[in-house]
Amino acid sequence: MKFFLDTANVDEIRRINDLGLCDGVTTNPSLINKEGRDFKEVISEIASFVEGPISAEVTSYDYESMVKEARDLSKWADNIVVKIPMTEDGLRAINILSKEGVRTNCTLIFSLSQALMAMKAGASYVSPFMGRIDDMGEDGARLVYDIRTIIDTYGFDCEIIAASIRSIKNFEDAALAGAHIATVPGNLFEKLWSHVLTDQGIDKFKKDWEAFEGK
Ligand code: E4P
Repeated sequence: MKFFLDTANVDEIRRINDLGLCDGVTTNPSLINKEGRDFKEVISEIASFVEGPISAEVTSYDYESMVKEARDLSKWADNIVVKIPMTEDGLRAINILSKEGVRTNCTLIFSLSQALMAMKAGASYVSPFMGRIDDMGEDGARLVYDIRTIIDTYGFDCEIIAASIRSIKNFEDAALAGAHIATVPGNLFEKLWSHVLTDQGIDKFKKDWEAFEGK
């Protein structure tokens, strides 16, 4: 299973990359906006040290503009994956771009049929939004599991990026459900390796060692 960083914050990406835990990065217009930096500048900086796929999202929604934007984005670095929203125009764009060798990540996936349409059109990745599905009272993990079943049954050349992960449970459920990739926000990442009993255990070992040395 691969771990991506779901952020456009370069410091967060460097921190996790230094631990060997960053196989790629996903961004979206909201994450770019949060950084307040030039889109191309921030993506190019990430691409300068992250070897894995970096998703950069189109900001237009009609077919012609999306394809134009995607062709441009794909030239920013060799490892750019263009994120395209799940719409009819988006599917058409994914189809032509896949034929040109541009890798795409079909985003805003909320149903199995949407994932199936994206894979059939030629998406390299599909991004089911687990957290937002759970917000609706539905089961994001179940969707990931079902998409994985479809990929394995029919042999689609596509990977699942479990997205909209907001909790340790979302992350663990994504792994159990068979996501190829989980994309994790920077501020959640450190919670994945932390545990209160680990901290308490270290405190006790420290105190006992100090007592031993004082004897
Ligand atoms: C990543 O590809 C998605 O854009 C992101 O995970 C969405 O997360 P959110 O639902 O927390 O905004």
